[in-house]
Amino acid sequence: MEELYIQGGRPLRGTLAVQGSKNAVLPILAATAAIPGRVVLSNCPPIRDVAVTRGLLEGLGLSTETRGDLLRVEGCREPGCAPDPELAARLRSSVLLLGALLARRGEAEIPLPGGCLLGARPLDLHLSALEALGVRVRCENNRLLCRGRPKGGTVRLRYPSVGATENLLLAALGAEGPVCVLGAAREPEIRDLADFLSACGARIQGAGSPCLRIVPAPLHGAAHRILPDRMEAATWLCAAAATGGSITLTELCPAHLAPVLELLGRAGCSLRLTERRVSLRAPARLEAPGPVITGPYPAFPTDAQAPMMAALLRARGCTLFRETVFEARYRHVPGLRALGAEIRLSDGLARVRGVPSLRGAELRATDLRGAAAMVIAALSAQGESHIREAWHLDRGYGSLVPRLQSLGARAEAI
Ligand code: UD1
Repeated sequence: MEELYIQGGRPLRGTLAVQGSKNAVLPILAATAAIPGRVVLSNCPPIRDVAVTRGLLEGLGLSTETRGDLLRVEGCREPGCAPDPELAARLRSSVLLLGALLARRGEAEIPLPGGCLLGARPLDLHLSALEALGVRVRCENNRLLCRGRPKGGTVRLRYPSVGATENLLLAALGAEGPVCVLGAAREPEIRDLADFLSACGARIQGAGSPCLRIVPAPLHGAAHRILPDRMEAATWLCAAAATGGSITLTELCPAHLAPVLELLGRAGCSLRLTERRVSLRAPARLEAPGPVITGPYPAFPTDAQAPMMAALLRARGCTLFRETVFEARYRHVPGLRALGAEIRLSDGLARVRGVPSLRGAELRATDLRGAAAMVIAALSAQGESHIREAWHLDRGYGSLVPRLQSLGARAEAI
């Protein structure tokens, strides 16, 4: 979708089943390059990043096929080791093919990856840890040239990078001996990757803790159901909260959303939780819930910062946001201001002073979650908003417009 028109001012009401997690399915798809045999994934989200990753895998010689939410990947005897640069540049998670191809082939030529423009997104943690395990790394003409199977050993990450943890987990599958990763990221999506790899025969201990141990073992194909998307869930909850609506989300893990739910509760929403579902009812106007400070899991997720800011633009009082994960993650702020929001930025902080109402405006999406924030703010504004470059949303939200319409929103895309 190129452009999105939203007629705001209507509370969202209804029930949605949460889609499979973008940040779980992308590393799992990258992992299939390390696996001989057939992988069948269920609960795959119908999003563009999955389509791009399928293209990358097919370029390496694997074959893929979808039916509904099922995605089948058929491994090949000897996958290529140089993913297509044009496709790789379109998403950050293409860098995870590095670990997978090192495990399978002992070499990889990875174009420098793309993804949302969230400031500098270096790979130093990925590369220094791989080098510490004996992999030779060179950077030439915007490509990473990596050679050699990782040796066994212990590496420590000085920051719990999600991508670096996933790359190490994948590379360690083909290592010459056991690999320990200390200071690993603990996001639920890493646990899902480890669960998938374990189903494929990998021997992994400690997934979900800061200390991972991977013992090389023969791999084979397997079936796996993708974890529910906690970021999609957070987006829908924020949208219902912003519009004074009520929503029930099914097929999700509420525990993975704890910091988001806690803030929405403090903002005045009433919440009902069961094992796989959350119901939220919002007052006409929220209250500022206290500071929102992003951090690695289990802290408040950086991917939910922009949607939460959009939800609180009309709250009574001031909310302070502190983004500690990505330096350039306030790219949505000019768009929110165009809708009438009062936001002051300084030193990595955003101070939001709630205003009684917002009005529709012309907007341009800048990144995936920033675009989601613009949609949420537009839904809670009076009048029509027009969002250009709405394709950012297709990267992570499947069937967005029909899902919005099913909740009573007036939204059209072209
Ligand atoms: C993943 C998610 C992304 C989420 C982020 C943080 C996927 C596909 N993407 O991105 O949606 O916002 O986790 O939860 O799962 N860093 C370095 N050096 C490195 C690696 C990272 O300095 O080698 C820095 C980054 O610049 C950033 C921070 O560490 O400031 C977090 O990055 P990381 O956890 O690696 O995020 P991604 O894996 O890129």
